[in-house]
Amino acid sequence: MQIEPLSAFDEDAARLLSLCVRDGKRELKEYLENPAAELFCVKKERVCAILILIFGGDTADIADIAVCGNMRRQGVGTALLSYAADLCKSRGISRLMLEVRASNKAAISLYERAGFEKIATRRRYYSNPAEDAAVFWRNL
Ligand SMILES: CC(C)(COP(=O)(O)OP(=O)(O)OC[C@H]1O[C@@H](n2cnc3c(N)ncnc32)[C@H](O)[C@@H]1OP(=O)(O)O)[C@@H](O)C(=O)NCCC(=O)NCCS
Repeated sequence: MQIEPLSAFDEDAARLLSLCVRDGKRELKEYLENPAAELFCVKKERVCAILILIFGGDTADIADIAVCGNMRRQGVGTALLSYAADLCKSRGISRLMLEVRASNKAAISLYERAGFEKIATRRRYYSNPAEDAAVFWRNL
């Protein structure tokens, strides 16, 4: 599996991002213009998985990760997290963090399997629908 930078707007990437945020198109355009954000994808003819990292100081935030439906449970999400960890380590970053909807069992299992630890709950962090966020981190 090849993980590569995503440097231009892509409809499939926007659709995948819509699994994480309300307006995937708008959010993708904003990330592409954000100098602190780096976007990565897996392509099999089309973009079938995305990873968005936000860098700041000695911590990087996993802003979004999504894998298309027919490629799930094949280790793609795990490979993206491992790629993120290796990239951050190579840049001297000591910690990866993320927030996730408290009800997102698939993502929480993925993060726990990848060595992330829950450190906090942010009450009603999300809207539409309102929901707590679980905050996870992993030391690198
Ligand atoms: C969360 C997501 C990225 C996982 O991607 P994935 O490629 O399927 O993950 P992996 O195949 O690497 O799974 C690794 C482990 O995570 C856990 N896991 C993944 N999906 C799961 C599910 N639906 N239910 C329970 N556990 C799950 C399992 O322990 C799995 O290992 P196993 O398959 O050996 O049992 C994917 O389900 C997705 O894109 N969801 C929609 C977008 C989203 O919610 N993103 C997170 C918030 S931005």
